[in-house]
Amino acid sequence: MEILHISAECYPIAKVGGLADVVGALPKYQNDRGVTSQVIMPFYDNDFTRKNNFSSIYESKLILGDTIFNFRILTLKNNNLGYDLFLVDIPELLFKEFVYSEEDTERFLAFQIAVLNWMLTWKEKPSTVHCHDYHTGLTAFMMTQCFKYEELSNIPTVLTIHNAQYQGWFSHDKVGLIPAFNFDNVGLLDWGGSINPLATAIKCSWRVTTVSPSYMEELKEDANGLESLLKSESAKCVGILNGIDFEVWNPATDSYLVKKYKISTVQSGQKANKKWLCTQFNLDVKKPLFAFIGRLVGEKGADLFPEVFKQALKDNKISILLLGSGNKEVESELHKLKDEFEGSYNTFIGYDEKLAHIIYAGADFLLMPSRVEPCGLNQMYALRYGTIPIVRSIGGLKDTIIDISVENGFGICHNEVSISEITNAIGRGRKLYQNQPKYKQIRKQIMSINHSWDASAKEYIKLYESLN
Ligand code: GLC
Repeated sequence: MEILHISAECYPIAKVGGLADVVGALPKYQNDRGVTSQVIMPFYDNDFTRKNNFSSIYESKLILGDTIFNFRILTLKNNNLGYDLFLVDIPELLFKEFVYSEEDTERFLAFQIAVLNWMLTWKEKPSTVHCHDYHTGLTAFMMTQCFKYEELSNIPTVLTIHNAQYQGWFSHDKVGLIPAFNFDNVGLLDWGGSINPLATAIKCSWRVTTVSPSYMEELKEDANGLESLLKSESAKCVGILNGIDFEVWNPATDSYLVKKYKISTVQSGQKANKKWLCTQFNLDVKKPLFAFIGRLVGEKGADLFPEVFKQALKDNKISILLLGSGNKEVESELHKLKDEFEGSYNTFIGYDEKLAHIIYAGADFLLMPSRVEPCGLNQMYALRYGTIPIVRSIGGLKDTIIDISVENGFGICHNEVSISEITNAIGRGRKLYQNQPKYKQIRKQIMSINHSWDASAKEYIKLYESLN
């Protein structure tokens, strides 16, 4: 079986969010299980592409509306990713420093057309085409509706929804960008009066998956306008929980860490990493350290942080460290708090992979008060590194974290995203920290939870098998 994953992001080549982590890891685990799994993505102008060498294996032209673009398919030389990687180079459209922009309708449509044009030349076609998020949402439509791709129309397609908030809407005025198809079926492109690539992919793909079972259920009630579509297509929809890459995320071998550790040495390992963080960010190593890593957007509950942090820090018993960027107003509010709470609060606005790893290792608690969380990987990284997650019970967070009030529970859960509930959850964390024997026992317990991709890779393979 040969699977082709089509995605806008893939770690370590280009990462904006969790999508990259999934596409960068799942294929490796699928290959380990005897399925040939490959990835194709755009060729961006970034650190990775500057530092690595590529060879061109195919060159051609594509037509987007009235414009002709040259494109090349590149492969990575000296590839040790664990799967074949192909990159679509369309210099005029894709080769930019950023992944996403205002021109994404044209950019990602051209990317998908290039992928399909190239696939037409393959002697052996893939057994299944696996698309990720709306950026690749028109692929299944083009494979089944565009005259040019008729030869690809029997290949099964799977869509994985990593986040249904973003759907890639564009106006019907641009329908001419899509290669010719039977116009009687233009309705497949439409949702609520616009062309909606995510809705189109849900309609046209053979199967639709989301990245956790709870998120699949939640989408039927709240999917940014796609609720009724997901309800009517529910027979082909299934939630498969993401895993994490156990090779990349392993405190025993993680070269980013100040000190590596395993379950038996978590005590000293965490201490060394926490000490480094506290020195770097001027925090008191004796207080419990609560951290947040992620995008500062409403979906993650970040707009409430300034007020939550003020309340949580006021009696001077804890420290908070935040790594992330996003909403400019939130960033500046969070920055302002630095003076007020010097010595117990700090931020790093931006993203830094090494710092993220050290925070998972050195913090005592990780905050995830998400309003929406399709799966969430950070709570799984935290578990692996022995950091106790404090989460809002939703989506993948609900599927992975059990509250300490329940037998064998190991995390702190709250139901609402409100200042009082998040502050209260932080208070519960502080209390748990005071009970050191319990806190230490939980740390060891969570490090042994297995969220490796193994189980989920198997589920995806079963799904492909059911289509072939
Ligand atoms: C998106 C979701 C996140 C999920 C990730 C990988 O970033 O917001 O919850 O873990 O995709 O599937």
